[in-house]
Amino acid sequence: MYIDMKVILLAAISADGKIAEHEGQTSLDWTSKEDLRFFVEKTKEVGVLIMGRKTFETIGKPLKGRRTIVMTREKGQTWDKGNRPGPQTPPEGVVEFTSEQPREILKRLKKDGHESVVVAGGSSIYSQFLSEGLITEVFLTVEPVLFGDGIPLATGFDRMNLSLVESTRLGDGSVLLHYLCQK
Ligand SMILES: NC(=O)c1ccc[n+]([C@@H]2O[C@H](COP(=O)([O-])OP(=O)(O)OC[C@H]3O[C@@H](n4cnc5c(N)ncnc54)[C@H](OP(=O)(O)O)[C@@H]3O)[C@@H](O)[C@H]2O)c1
Repeated sequence: MYIDMKVILLAAISADGKIAEHEGQTSLDWTSKEDLRFFVEKTKEVGVLIMGRKTFETIGKPLKGRRTIVMTREKGQTWDKGNRPGPQTPPEGVVEFTSEQPREILKRLKKDGHESVVVAGGSSIYSQFLSEGLITEVFLTVEPVLFGDGIPLATGFDRMNLSLVESTRLGDGSVLLHYLCQK
């Protein structure tokens, strides 16, 4: 079933397409302050993010003013008992753990009144949303580094053509690419 929502994949990548050098590495180790500023602005504008449990662990706390949905297969994880679903997120932020699958999460967010959502990684989460054809937009910050080894942006999905909307130089060495996914 088609879900009428903007589903935005947001990632910082090395120039060789990796999102981390190794599992558990925080992106703050290697991404630019301009990328962090963009991440904060975009996720605050959208108000709700979906991420995997491992990515959440690299952040380790609620993101202020945003609703964070953390995907996990472990039952009974909680962070904030004061969950208030819906587009109005309290200033301290909200974290919700769920074992729901991508499409179910989107349906629930749509029902709660969200018109858009950021898919914030990691690789396993990007891969699942891409392979189910759920992503409608992509923002990639290409950072000026090659990792060689590392965790790829995503794997195991069919080719997807993108239309470039905008490319913006960020600071001294990074480039922000904004794409729309072609149907
Ligand atoms: N550069 C960037 O923009 C960027 C963005 C995000 C992340 N990262 C990096 O990517 C790395 C983490 O990526 P990752 O791929 O290893 O892990 P991940 O996608 O963040 O998390 C994987 C975990 O998510 C849960 N999960 C995945 N699919 C699920 C499903 N269908 N249903 C329920 N739960 C599900 C599982 O948690 P349980 O094990 O609890 O069941 C799984 O172990 C970190 O180093 C992080 O810094 C980089």
